[in-house]
Amino acid sequence: MAFLTGEVTYSRGLEGVVAAITSIAAIDGEEGKLIYRGIPIELLAEKSNFEETAYLLWFGDLPKKDELENLKRDLVEHREIPQFLVDCLKGAPKDTHPMEILRTCVSMLGCFDPDKNDNSRGANIRKSIRLTAQMPTIVAYYSRLRRGLELVHPDPKLSHAQNLYYMLTGEVPNEEISKLMDVILILHMEHGMNASTFAAMVVASTLSDMHSSICAAIGALRGPLHGGANERVLEMLQEIGTVENVEPYILNALKEHRRIMGFGHRVYKAYDPRARILKEYAERLSREKGDTKWIEIAEKIEEVMIREKGKKGIFPNVDFYSGIIYNLLGFPKEVFTPIFAIARVVGWTAHVLEYLQANRIFRPRAIYNGPLDVEYIPIDKR
Ligand code: SDX
Repeated sequence: MAFLTGEVTYSRGLEGVVAAITSIAAIDGEEGKLIYRGIPIELLAEKSNFEETAYLLWFGDLPKKDELENLKRDLVEHREIPQFLVDCLKGAPKDTHPMEILRTCVSMLGCFDPDKNDNSRGANIRKSIRLTAQMPTIVAYYSRLRRGLELVHPDPKLSHAQNLYYMLTGEVPNEEISKLMDVILILHMEHGMNASTFAAMVVASTLSDMHSSICAAIGALRGPLHGGANERVLEMLQEIGTVENVEPYILNALKEHRRIMGFGHRVYKAYDPRARILKEYAERLSREKGDTKWIEIAEKIEEVMIREKGKKGIFPNVDFYSGIIYNLLGFPKEVFTPIFAIARVVGWTAHVLEYLQANRIFRPRAIYNGPLDVEYIPIDKR
């Protein structure tokens, strides 16, 4: 068999390559549609909550009352983390990004997990639920420690979304904020073969363990081309500073071929349906808080970008408006991407569980474009 030197098609970044068959979610990039197990994301955002949608993604159907109550109980039961990890959070360098802390702690959780030597489906389901319960605690604890604040321990009376807000801020959210937190987590929960989900699946396909898969996913999500964009969008808004500065800033950035964070998508060539929903909440919250500066700058950026790049299919994505909401809720910028991870761990684990039911190790090829038939020159003759 000859070396692979070029007679095959190569798609940079695996663009357009199908890596799996799934019934978890589907994206219509041309029409800007997203469905979870066949249900449009708009309906789930309007009518569902984190726990119910997590059940849907993991198990394929909306839960019955007892199934939902059992999942809620399991998530509440596993919110606390080992004291050893709390001590690690206290000792971690304060300038460490929370995504690095999250990746490190998830790895350590694998050492403490009661099912750590069991990679059966049942054990992986239990690990998925435990990780989903524990990750908010890690993020919230570290965020408060690095701000010199007292830890706020999980409140078993609160829902998953409410409890995240409570542990981050120390306040129990009102009904409106509770709903917004559920919507945020639902919208970020799953998105098919995105880079971090694919990373989780590649690791799982070697029959490694769930914690290793989720560590890989966290590492991938952190990048500014993926989940890390939400933090950079707020930085961009702050750098622009006024609506008047938007046009020159954006036109100059485009002239320098810089990517505008929060725009563009490998699959969506239309408006990201998640961004549409988040924009509405961002507008409403901005008005209610009496702080419309950032939403006005963002909407001006959207206007300029769609005028300049809309024809090329470049529109706002899920990361463009989320940061405005988090900022108005009082979350520090560095927890924006960890919040994405707290939601997406459901999608990551759902795809690992699904793929392992018909597993085959991921092993693509590469076209070799190096030299051939090179002789070995001894070092004293080089
Ligand atoms: C997420 O995959 C997922 O589903 C991800 C995600 C999920 O839920 O998991 O949806 C979450 O990661 C959203 C994306 C967040 N990232 C950003 O907002 C960073 C900025 N966006 C770009 O870096 C880019 O759009 C990507 C990474 C999102 C997609 O990159 P592609 O598909 O590889 O596109 P590309 O970089 O090859 O660009 C194609 C063309 C280029 O023009 P040319 O140089 O060929 O003339 O589009 C242009 C790019 O210049 N372009 C942009 C742009 N994105 C693409 N130009 C300006 N600003 C941008 N943001």
